[in-house]
Amino acid sequence: MEDFEPLVIAFCCHYCAYTAADLAGTMRLQYPSNVRIIRLPCTGKVDVRHLLETFEKGADGVYVAGCLEGDCHFLNGNFRAKKRVAYAKKILEEVGIGGDRLEMYNMSAAMGPRFAEVAREMTEKIRKLGPSPAKKAAHSS
Ligand code: FES
Repeated sequence: MEDFEPLVIAFCCHYCAYTAADLAGTMRLQYPSNVRIIRLPCTGKVDVRHLLETFEKGADGVYVAGCLEGDCHFLNGNFRAKKRVAYAKKILEEVGIGGDRLEMYNMSAAMGPRFAEVAREMTEKIRKLGPSPAKKAAHSS
């Protein structure tokens, strides 16, 4: 599957990962255009249904990027997100999409290089995994 270009959706907290993405841009750091960013006021806003629906809508991989643990502006939003990601990973595994397609990361607004690294890491991982089975199922029906 050499020409496969994964679609990776990144749910980014406004206070950290989203700002880190901006910084990566300002620093002219390269990261794959496969990653589409969705800005959230806090990762605590993301729920399990959101995460699963993102796969239904055609994502090959998804990640949630929140503030460093202890730094969430809404106290424990990133811990809630971490639990939801863990739960959604289990569901994805059970339904055959694969839990590995979903991850949670933590970073600060100053971590532009880390943002770019995570974007590359996720894109490469999903490229190796191939297209999401959820996408294939939707196309064949
Ligand atoms: Fe960033 Fe909550 S404000 S994860």
